[in-house]
Amino acid sequence: MATSACLLLLCFLLLSSYSSAASPRKLALVQQPHLVLKYHNGQLLRGNYTLTLLFYGRFSSVQRSIIADFIRSLSPSAAASPPPPSVASWWLTTARYAGAAVHLSLAPQLLDESYSVGRLLSSSDVAALAGKAAAGSGPRAIAVVVTAADVAVEGFCSSRCGTHGKLAGATGFVWVGDSASQCPGQCAWPFHQPPYGPQTAPLVAPNGDVGLDGVVINLSALLAGAATNPGGDGYFQGPAEAPLEAVTACTGVFGSGAYPGNPGNVLVDRASGASYNARGLAGRKYLLPAMWDPETSQCSTLV
Ligand SMILES: *[C@@H]1O[C@H](CO)[C@@H](O)[C@H](O)[C@H]1NC(C)=O
Ligand SMILES: *[C@@H]1O[C@H](CO)[C@@H](O)[C@H](O)[C@H]1NC(C)=O
Repeated sequence: MATSACLLLLCFLLLSSYSSAASPRKLALVQQPHLVLKYHNGQLLRGNYTLTLLFYGRFSSVQRSIIADFIRSLSPSAAASPPPPSVASWWLTTARYAGAAVHLSLAPQLLDESYSVGRLLSSSDVAALAGKAAAGSGPRAIAVVVTAADVAVEGFCSSRCGTHGKLAGATGFVWVGDSASQCPGQCAWPFHQPPYGPQTAPLVAPNGDVGLDGVVINLSALLAGAATNPGGDGYFQGPAEAPLEAVTACTGVFGSGAYPGNPGNVLVDRASGASYNARGLAGRKYLLPAMWDPETSQCSTLV
């Protein structure tokens, strides 16, 4: 036992020093800890769900369509689906957890442009808004609340960019905040310099909106978490109060060769210089985070 463990360790050391001579990027890859998201025997989402999108605060119609087109791109009809790498091919990784794809159909959008509960929201305000948004859609409903850049939410920026949770009478909810004016370095990286840590030049946001393209990153992560760990007893690693889920276990990885501070290799649109790794409906391009693939036990990237 001990000998084979030592041999393995030696092998690893030899491999890593070989890689470091060849390429520092490979070294970072070799050193990535083995990642396993444990299944905690709870329910996972599978099948058809209705998704209600509530925009809280003021958004332009252009901003709203960035988010709505993203959600539509997750489960397009086969005929409309753009070629991979696509938003739909990214979302299909969640089906490897449950053995069935989650199909999301977007309900008519809701707007709360009068800031009905103010510009300073507690976690329970967010859950209440989500509950109202999902009301009447039945048990297979997911509410997504996106708060505008001028709305402060409990814990936003200081400890999180969004959350997902359960919802009485419905399936669950996701909340994400537009971080453009409060903390783009934290919640819209790699489209903005991070506040600390290794620095690389920010990428150009694919839809020209740092805050909303950042919302897409977090929304995609939280939707994947809502599908694969809806009740806190699905797939995750670490403590249940601070779980690393399907996408948050792969934080900071957007393409192959990623290492801390560097999002990895992604595609670049020649005309705009924008970075992306997934095509969406209506000619949209998005940058989506890597997702842990239960079949390979790796953070899987599209490019
Ligand atoms: C899910 O919805 C699609 C149409 O969007 C339909 O073809 C399919 O039968 C539905 N599946 C279930 C299990 O209801
Ligand atoms: C949200 O995005 C930021 C920036 O990419 C990232 O650091 C953070 O981990 C993400 N959080 C979630 C819940 O996806």
